[in-house]
Amino acid sequence: MNQEERFISHEPFRFDEEEVLLRSRQLLEYSDRRRSIRSFSDRDIPFEAIKNILMTASTAPSGAHKQPWTFCVVRSQEMKSKIRAAAEKEEKESYEHRMSDQWLKDLEPFGTDWRKPFLETVPWIIVVFKRAFEYENGQKHQIFYVNESVGIACGMLINAIHHAGLATLTHTPSPMNFLTTLLDRPDNERPFLLLPVGYPADDVKVPNIRRKHFEEVVKLFD
Ligand SMILES: Cc1cc2nc3c(=O)[nH]c(=O)nc-3n(C[C@H](O)[C@H](O)[C@H](O)COP(=O)(O)O)c2cc1C
Repeated sequence: MNQEERFISHEPFRFDEEEVLLRSRQLLEYSDRRRSIRSFSDRDIPFEAIKNILMTASTAPSGAHKQPWTFCVVRSQEMKSKIRAAAEKEEKESYEHRMSDQWLKDLEPFGTDWRKPFLETVPWIIVVFKRAFEYENGQKHQIFYVNESVGIACGMLINAIHHAGLATLTHTPSPMNFLTTLLDRPDNERPFLLLPVGYPADDVKVPNIRRKHFEEVVKLFD
């Protein structure tokens, strides 16, 4: 690429102040309606919508633009059953033997246990893998800021799911290595998050928890 081709023109949105205030307020109100859902409907969702959601996540910024993510998208009922069985096996072991008393106490408000029936109910499961390194000419090449980059992409993924009017749960069955085997991922990929995607169940209920207020999370240096 020659010097002239390295930079291209860009047309950013340019809104006036009123529009900026309106849009920022609207997104806040919209985002505040998002909740993690643990009880889903089996109603189908077209792949086109999932594709748009995934490609929205894939617009995320990443360290040196490495885009170190792979999204495995599962629709196969057989694979969903395998994921559920393996996740429940790990979760049962965790809930009954691996989690500390403090951890179990922290989880009490959510009423969760090792059972994950939603993994078979939802029409889609997205499993996000991070690329810990890549191969260049047969040599291992380290990728910097992988966790930050994939974390940002996952945030955008969750928001895209919400924006489409769908629901998800940020799920981390621990440990997650079984996903590498089940989904046949190469040795440079590590499971990062598992997101069931669907419509919430009609009678869905969510934990009664509160979000921190502005003063609790923001320190202003004016
Ligand atoms: C990194 C991460 C891992 C999580 N893992 C689980 C999980 O394995 N199971 C679960 O039920 N919820 C899990 N959650 C969901 C949180 O409990 C939930 O986001 C939090 O309680 C706030 O609720 P909200 O998402 O409805 O705002 C996880 C969330 C994050 C960010």
